[in-house]
Amino acid sequence: METFTTHRLLAERLKFQHLNELNRMHQNQQVMATLGGVRSDEETRLFIFNNLHHWQSYGFGLWVFRDKVNHQFVGRAGLRNTDVGGMNEVELAYALMAKFWGQGLATEMGEKILKIAFEILKLREVVCFTLTTNQASQRVMKKLEFKYEREMIHANLPHLFYRLKI
Ligand SMILES: CC(C)(COP(=O)(O)OP(=O)(O)OC[C@H]1O[C@@H](n2cnc3c(N)ncnc32)[C@H](O)[C@@H]1OP(=O)(O)O)[C@@H](O)C(=O)NCCC(=O)NCCS
Repeated sequence: METFTTHRLLAERLKFQHLNELNRMHQNQQVMATLGGVRSDEETRLFIFNNLHHWQSYGFGLWVFRDKVNHQFVGRAGLRNTDVGGMNEVELAYALMAKFWGQGLATEMGEKILKIAFEILKLREVVCFTLTTNQASQRVMKKLEFKYEREMIHANLPHLFYRLKI
């Protein structure tokens, strides 16, 4: 799916042309504090490369989101195949520029992405996990009706792991 809309946002499939916007996000300490820290230009190029490859391999991946009114870059979100404790899972991922936090936008993105996951991609379940300290993300998962499963160590850090089944 190349593009779609939500109530307030436009989504476009990740492209290499999003490098500057993703660099702006990945070099922002506030945003990246819960995502493993800031990333260099080179790391962001690799991030895009890997995520474009993901799209080619699985037919889904990350989208970039913009404000419908003025087309400002809001963030990125989507679905990613990922290894969690030796199991292959499809993860819902989301990150927004800080000025857009607290308006229900991550939840709005998540609702639409989950609809795509279940209704178009015909996935049976999607997982989501976050640092034990990331309360905003945990709240988003709860609003999206994910069910808490367990605590786990991921990237050497304690995370809470949730799953949503249809
Ligand atoms: C986590 C993140 C995506 C949330 O985005 P958002 O658009 O602000 O999320 P929403 O507005 O949809 O929902 C956030 C909820 O968390 C709540 N919240 C925010 N900070 C909180 C805190 N410190 N403690 C408890 N709840 C908190 C908000 O009140 C809101 O709940 P409510 O609607 O019941 O009031 C955003 O903060 C972000 O991009 N953070 C950096 C990247 C990141 O951590 N991504 C997730 C990795 S798993």
